[in-house]
Amino acid sequence: MTLHSRISGTGSYLPGEPVDNSSLIAAHGLDSSDEWIVERTGIRYRHLAAAGVSSSDLALEASRRALQAAGRKPEEVDLIIVATSTPDYVFPSSAALLQHKLGITNGAPAFDVQAVCSGFIYALTIAEKFIRSGSHKCALVVGAEVFSRILDWTDRGTCVLFGDGAGAVVLEASDQPGLLASALHADGSHHGILSVPGQLCGGVATGDPLLRMDGQAVFKFAVKVLADVANEVLAAADMTAAQVDWLIPHQANVRILQATAKKLHIPPEKCIVTVAGHGNTSSASIPLALDEAVRDGRVQRGQHLLLEGVGGGFTWGATLLRF
Ligand code: UT7
Repeated sequence: MTLHSRISGTGSYLPGEPVDNSSLIAAHGLDSSDEWIVERTGIRYRHLAAAGVSSSDLALEASRRALQAAGRKPEEVDLIIVATSTPDYVFPSSAALLQHKLGITNGAPAFDVQAVCSGFIYALTIAEKFIRSGSHKCALVVGAEVFSRILDWTDRGTCVLFGDGAGAVVLEASDQPGLLASALHADGSHHGILSVPGQLCGGVATGDPLLRMDGQAVFKFAVKVLADVANEVLAAADMTAAQVDWLIPHQANVRILQATAKKLHIPPEKCIVTVAGHGNTSSASIPLALDEAVRDGRVQRGQHLLLEGVGGGFTWGATLLRF
């Protein structure tokens, strides 16, 4: 019998109260406006973690909700993967910290995946391969970020775009198909258009340890590769875009979401859009959007979902699944 992997539960968590554009602009004295941010990005609110709240804290809340939705106890989890570019520490991994916070003592492997905004697609694809190999049965796959910690609050071109949050899924072995096709890509020659070019050296942050982005270059690259990789997984699963019930893209900019949906001939009403309320939460954005649509009843069991993301590296990927 072929082993498949299927999402059995979703969960998410956003820290604190939503912060609207005007409040953010006032708090940081930015030369910007609510009108510009809404028109150019679609973002109205984002959530920002309080000082001392780490990625593994956000991951913990999202994971508890996903486990509850799946009807699983933490101890039943035998694999933990956290996608994050803003981990708690240099090491240990946020996944190891999450394992401890969940009280899991069964020795399940736990590790982080660093693929920036494509991180959740990377983590989900890795978990799927563990499960399909037969070595693991119940994976916790999380995207968790505190991007507010790596923003330059004097750079209006980036600091208004990002937010903090976490999303999680439980991915389990199944005799029914769940994940149908995945594709992952990277091209490191574009490392310079979106990066945090700093490092720790001798206990001091060196280089430029804040997020830097050439927004227009990222925009053009994103629209091209997202449509290409979506078509790649559709072809691999022998399906067409017309059979997709929901497109659940990485939430960076509503204009990127709309342009990608248009290129794929997927109507805008079939695209889950959360960027207005979350901002860009990097690796957390896809599982956050998925969980929101599951909990409000739009995403139903048996539907076909197309998840896709693109981010620093550059990295990009997509997963087509039957929910
Ligand atoms: O997660 C994946 C990574 N991120 C993305 O996918 C983001 C991709 N890029 C984008 O979403 C867009 O390129 C941005 C939202 C970042 C920028 O939008 P844009 O339409 O490409 O604007 P632009 O960079 O061409 O800037 C247009 C103008 C500039 O002023 P001048 O030079 O024309 O006088 C900017 O300085 O808008 C100015 N500007 C702002 N004005 C008010 C840039 N940021 C702001 C701001 N408020 N926050």
